[in-house]
Amino acid sequence: MDAQYGGGTAPQQAKVTVPDVLAAKRAGRKITMMTAYDTAFARLVEASGIDIILVGDSLGMVVLGYPTTVPVTMDDMVRHAGAVSRGARRPLLVGDMPFGSYQAATSDALHNAARFLKEAGMDAVKVEGGHEVVETVRALVDNGIAVMAHVGLTPQRVAQLGGFKVQAKTGRAARKLIDDALALEDAGAFSIVLESVPAPVARLATERLSIPTIGIGAGVDCDGQVLVLHDVLGLFGDFKPKFAKRYADLGPIVIDALKRFDADVREGRFPDAEHSFPMKDTERQSLEESFKPRKTG
Ligand code: KIV
Repeated sequence: MDAQYGGGTAPQQAKVTVPDVLAAKRAGRKITMMTAYDTAFARLVEASGIDIILVGDSLGMVVLGYPTTVPVTMDDMVRHAGAVSRGARRPLLVGDMPFGSYQAATSDALHNAARFLKEAGMDAVKVEGGHEVVETVRALVDNGIAVMAHVGLTPQRVAQLGGFKVQAKTGRAARKLIDDALALEDAGAFSIVLESVPAPVARLATERLSIPTIGIGAGVDCDGQVLVLHDVLGLFGDFKPKFAKRYADLGPIVIDALKRFDADVREGRFPDAEHSFPMKDTERQSLEESFKPRKTG
């Protein structure tokens, strides 16, 4: 990340690129990533100075109301990613490949990742999984698509994992996770999300990898951190992971605003003159005249 970049007022700053993200790790600068799913919030995330916007498939849970991320489709993702790229261009924009969009065949992965870049204005894609997606990641990178990897708790496998649980708790499982991460780096991934893993595992992975680690529930030693926007803003009450820090509680603020609208309308205070369109007296009179019965005979 160059001198113009990192924190502060965003819009006039330079576009964040994949090389910027790699350079941040080398320079020991922390990387920030936040999810967004629409234009309005993409603008706000950009204005905060955050480095990377992830259009996460958490869309399924926090916006579309599904119990997991599994039902999310490629069309859902492209629609929302397009909305995000119309709201923010400075952050690096990463589209999350949804379940079923990259597992069956490398050609699916290439086709769907290209949709993120061509139709939705994303700069990169994210793929969940370890050794089993290494060749997919290699094919994407070889074909010019920047890939963020994602290991640890991979929510698309929630049924197989038995819930949203901490991963890599044993030495053996942690070693496998770090080996997977190294294989993903070797395949060309430019960064890797570590989700819900013990902090010492994330620290060891971060030390051994030359690409940046971006933690969520993975302790302070990762090269960067990501959270889900609706958790940060207190907009999603159904499920609150231990690692999600609420920086604002917008739920009650939104409800209060809507209650005041409701009361104003019911009691005739809204809309007032300020929020209504006037009409010239002459035009109003001519309109009223037009309804008067014409004299006959
Ligand atoms: O979908 C998502 O929001 C994610 C983050 C939690 C990393 O994958």
